[in-house]
Amino acid sequence: MSTHDNTPALVDDAQDRFANPGLPPHVPRRADVDESAANRASVQVVALFTLSALASIAFLVAYFVIDPELRGSIIGIGEVNLFHVVLGLTMGVSLLGIGLGAVHWAKTLMPDEEMVEQRHSLRSSDEDRQEVARQLSYGWRGSQLNRRTAILGSAGGALGLFALPLVVPVVAGLGPRPRDELYTTNWEPGLRLMIDPSGAPIRAADVTQGSVFHVMPEGWVGDEAFEVHGAEEAMASKSKDQVILVKLDPSIINSQKQRDWGYEGIVAYSKVCTHVGCPVALYEQQTHHLLCPCHQSTFDMTEDCKVIFGPAKRPLPQLPISVDDEGYLVAIDGFREPIGPSFFERERPGLLMEDES
Ligand code: FES
Repeated sequence: MSTHDNTPALVDDAQDRFANPGLPPHVPRRADVDESAANRASVQVVALFTLSALASIAFLVAYFVIDPELRGSIIGIGEVNLFHVVLGLTMGVSLLGIGLGAVHWAKTLMPDEEMVEQRHSLRSSDEDRQEVARQLSYGWRGSQLNRRTAILGSAGGALGLFALPLVVPVVAGLGPRPRDELYTTNWEPGLRLMIDPSGAPIRAADVTQGSVFHVMPEGWVGDEAFEVHGAEEAMASKSKDQVILVKLDPSIINSQKQRDWGYEGIVAYSKVCTHVGCPVALYEQQTHHLLCPCHQSTFDMTEDCKVIFGPAKRPLPQLPISVDDEGYLVAIDGFREPIGPSFFERERPGLLMEDES
């Protein structure tokens, strides 16, 4: 006998042996039968949402009031950054208030009757759609939001305020609006080129062909920069003033401007990649190529650092240099175009662009 022939008998047999147990009898909750219990639960839900809203406000106050560097000890944990601890705790309480409020609301006040939904064709009939509308309406009334507007208001307030701790730190953390930082560096006429990080000046006569130096402007190297200018300015300088200095054979330099802005084959270029700003720090002595390690943009030092490979679109800006009375390398001027990646409004009047040089 085939398997198909056995199927109806097996199904019948299974139905005989496994009777549908049905649903357990519905047991009403206390809030279903006792109005004062329902009111108490409602107050508790409001309190939890209110707690969440207060924690969100506390988060915002802490974010702006507490010093981000403030450290202190917490029993058993040792010294920690209190700014982070307070932000974490307030955001945690805010989330917890919303979660507990929603769960308590669902468990005590929302309908908990078991519903049986029959299977139907994909396209609901008009009757079914009316039934859905009826059930939604029933659910809305069952949630008691039409009667208990305090829950609606407090839940809306808690959820609305909870968005602020997510949004405000991001917006506030964007930092100050850029001023002239995108156009200017700390390089000025007469500043010596100092080896980074030792801070030693460079005598042109000591630079041998093929040698490479990473340099910063005089007064902006190492600890001195932090002590004199403060951490923020020193860090900003480190990110935009960094220069790579190479001595080439003057006969292989193909650009007159590059020759004029260098000194006897010694040329200095911004290390800030014109793609997205990584430090271009790898010099290939045989090919005279400068490589950016981030996305492999390659700049040809014999062709005024024009891009020969990779996603960068502009050559590295050159720093015009010469020597002072003692033979040390100095900047003749600052960069004559904005360093780093392209940006809107880059071509500001008064700055010399590379195609004008
Ligand atoms: S940052 Fe240099 S290639 Fe992308």
